[in-house]
Amino acid sequence: MDSQSDLIRTSIIFGTRPEAIKLAPVILALNRDDRFAPHLCVTGQHREMLDQVMDVFELQADVDLSIMRADQSLSGLTARALCELDHYLENNRPDLVIVQGDTTTAFCAALSAFYRRIPIAHVEAGLRTGHRFAPFPEEINRVLVSQVADWHFAPTQAAVDNLLQAGLAHDHIFLTGNTVIDALQLAVEKVRRQAPNVEGVAAEIMHSNRRMVLITGHRRENFGRPFEEVCRAIAGLAETFQDVAFVYPVHLNPNVREPVHRLLNDHDNIVLIEPLPYLAFIALMDRATVVLTDSGGVQEEAPSLGKPVLVMRERTERPEAVAAGTAKLVGTDAPAIHKAVADLLTDKAVYERMSHAVNPYGDGRATERIVNILASRVTHA
Ligand code: UD1
Ligand code: UDP
Repeated sequence: MDSQSDLIRTSIIFGTRPEAIKLAPVILALNRDDRFAPHLCVTGQHREMLDQVMDVFELQADVDLSIMRADQSLSGLTARALCELDHYLENNRPDLVIVQGDTTTAFCAALSAFYRRIPIAHVEAGLRTGHRFAPFPEEINRVLVSQVADWHFAPTQAAVDNLLQAGLAHDHIFLTGNTVIDALQLAVEKVRRQAPNVEGVAAEIMHSNRRMVLITGHRRENFGRPFEEVCRAIAGLAETFQDVAFVYPVHLNPNVREPVHRLLNDHDNIVLIEPLPYLAFIALMDRATVVLTDSGGVQEEAPSLGKPVLVMRERTERPEAVAAGTAKLVGTDAPAIHKAVADLLTDKAVYERMSHAVNPYGDGRATERIVNILASRVTHA
């Protein structure tokens, strides 16, 4: 392309840690591609946790809407995001908006773009549990994004099938793999070139031979009693397995931090730390014996690193790793979590069965496919 007006003016809009991780490879590819003029708009739905990822991938926001408030409500967040995004789109008028996943930022960016009749590409389209409150509010966010998006980039065949079943046009649905694997490959390459900085007790554990359970959790539907059950399970496990370290980078949401710090503070082998920068987290996951999580992204990364992953949810929109035998749904009842972790820590055969590396989520080339499809499909406004 030779003139500025031939470029596809592309706004990549995101706001949270997982969106930044999964869009980083796409942004880096668009920056290198002379068919596109990318513009980065971050809503700032997350702050510290978003900035950590921007630093790792050396990304600079062109516009930062700074909408995060402490303990924000879904309606407050949605209202701020919609108002700010509408101003942003009015001022910038891109040819294309790219959103990722199922956060409030993704939903609001897609809706704002639709209101301004700007074409929308949805990365990681088609994930479904079929249950409106699991996860909450993400299941409905992604259903709504699918309704307004023009191009749907599905990570797996199951996701393609979900979109077809929803009645979306088959020639606007593309099986690409998940960019989480592209990001993971970039991260592993960086980690191998230079070991990331992990500080304090986590660093000691990382460089010891001690077995380690790596824990994350933040789902809204688990707030309250389910989170307390999860904490009780972790406390019980720490007492039973005193030789094992339980490392927990605690999400910044106050609804997570309060029960976690109240119930897990006084165990020598439970290490509560702040959210880790992406590379340090990947290095720790690579060193972990077992991963215990309710995260979407971690469910996709752990199988790729050959780590058994126990999912503290009743349902998952990522059934592929469960089918492959490296992930298991354990819910949020303390006895079930305790038993599943204990089985992996005490039964070699169970551990062997769950710890083979599988990669149902992509081959590391999702970005390339997405960018080429967009270059051939998007026309100028
Ligand atoms: C959000 C997404 C969820 C995604 C998750 C990834 C929605 C509704 N939820 O959940 O889909 O899986 O991010 O982590 O879109 N906070 C900080 N600093 C930060 C980030 C959060 O202090 O960098 C605190 C703030 O008090 C904030 C609260 O966490 O109000 C909740 O943040 P929010 O983005 O609303 O929800 P998450 O639970 O992070
Ligand atoms: N992650 C990270 N630091 C941490 C915990 C997680 O960088 O301390 C990364 C992890 O590797 C994954 C992503 O954050 O790529 C998942 O984010 P989160 O669990 O917050 O959101 P979800 O994927 O559930 O939407």
